[in-house]
Amino acid sequence: MISLDLPVIPEHVAIIMDGNGRWANQRGLPRTFGHNKGVEAVRETVKAAGEAGIKYLTLFAFSSENWSRPASEVEDLLGLLRRFIRRDLADLHRENIRIRIIGERQNLRGDILPLLLEAEETTRNNTAMTLVIAFNYGSRNEIARAVARIAEDVEAGRLKPAEVDADLISRHLDTADFPDPDLIIRTSGEERLSNFLLWQAAYSELVFLPCYWPDFGRQQLYEALRVFASRERRFGALSQMTTAVVG
Ligand code: FPP
Repeated sequence: MISLDLPVIPEHVAIIMDGNGRWANQRGLPRTFGHNKGVEAVRETVKAAGEAGIKYLTLFAFSSENWSRPASEVEDLLGLLRRFIRRDLADLHRENIRIRIIGERQNLRGDILPLLLEAEETTRNNTAMTLVIAFNYGSRNEIARAVARIAEDVEAGRLKPAEVDADLISRHLDTADFPDPDLIIRTSGEERLSNFLLWQAAYSELVFLPCYWPDFGRQQLYEALRVFASRERRFGALSQMTTAVVG
């Protein structure tokens, strides 16, 4: 682990990797070049996050809305994810990194789901860092699935409506095993969550960086960590300075 000399390091960092297409356009290249370069940025980011002491890193790899892109681009993205799992799994496993997948698993065709499950199974006992890959993920879909399961429990008499609270909903989400993200980073200058971890982001610090995802790496991650460390998180309470004045 390297020393960043920061007073606080977030336990969970989540990233919206945006701008692959624009990175390629800027260079007069097909969009797929941007996605390819994006995978290199993923590799560097995973390494740098582990070395900084981050325990959970969530990456938004493919949203439930991404299926509406041209078929060739969808195939490119699926191909990259496949290759990432096939080629990098052994390295990630050796680095003691656990892989978890969030997102809708029903109706996934072909070899993708078995590959994702294999990655989870192979790395299940690893403890250095958890790499959460959001695949076929949309926050509203995740919340709807959680609510449906809770409704089934109520209908079956296993749960009373009065027992439904925020904690119970959190425990029915795909992210039930992880802490909420302390920091959410989005690249490319866009400043929105785009259906990513809407419930879990209630108290996350948001950092928007102008660089496109293929240009993201160790330096940009550590810059975001420095911004995070400079923020005061209040979780709805008063600031420490105010409390000191109020007594
Ligand atoms: C956004 O750029 C990026 C994506 C939709 C996919 C991100 C995927 C990868 C980096 C590769 C696969 C992931 C892993 C974990 C190996 P965009 O295409 O929306 O760019 P644009 O907004 O400039 O068009």
